[in-house]
Amino acid sequence: MNKVIEINHPLIQHKLTIMRDKNTGTKDFRELLTEISMLMAYEVTRNLPLEEVEIETPLVKTKANIISGKKLGIVPILRAGLGMVDGFVTLIPNAKVGHVGLYRDPETLKPVEYYLKLPKDTPEREIIIVDPMLATGGSSVAAIDVLKREGAKNIKLVNLVASPEGISEVHKYHPDVDIYVASVDEKLNEHGYILPGLGDAGDRLYGTK
Ligand code: PRP
Ligand code: URA
Repeated sequence: MNKVIEINHPLIQHKLTIMRDKNTGTKDFRELLTEISMLMAYEVTRNLPLEEVEIETPLVKTKANIISGKKLGIVPILRAGLGMVDGFVTLIPNAKVGHVGLYRDPETLKPVEYYLKLPKDTPEREIIIVDPMLATGGSSVAAIDVLKREGAKNIKLVNLVASPEGISEVHKYHPDVDIYVASVDEKLNEHGYILPGLGDAGDRLYGTK
């Protein structure tokens, strides 16, 4: 069964509260999502393997650790997932970035795939899928389906806000994928929106409706 890792650092909780507020505008929403993503990236990469190398400080020769050639791929689910990319690549500048385009049909709530561009060596990379919202779980499950179809074996899912229903859905179809979240909220409403949530992440991020 996959783990759910709730990253509830005080800075993340504080920033997420401001994001949830309906009076927070696009500029602040976007900046806060980047800041929280950076803080989440710190935690998501906590177990990256290290290797010892020899270096010379201005004073002596010494051995010290560096991250050992682990290849990472950040894959945002378009469109709202794009808002998490800058935070991740600021901390992991050598990561490649793929894109999976999915939108949720407003009638059926089912995800529709419309774009895919992944790093060539996706099967060799540890893939980190990012999307602020895990609601019904349809989009995240579909994105993981796509990544596995393209050969990815080692996948993590990072969401800002998740519903219990969405987590169950990922558990059901992809029990091997660990989920990192800043908050597990109460439930979904009848339109598939997370309560209390923060509304439509893509629209708030880009100022659309
Ligand atoms: C939002 C969000 C997720 C999806 C979550 O995207 O960014 O991708 O909904 O819902 P689910 O768990 O029920 O699938 P949306 O479809 O609104 O597209 P957008 O990012 O282009 O706004
Ligand atoms: N997508 C969003 O952007 N927000 C929700 O609450 C659910 C799906």
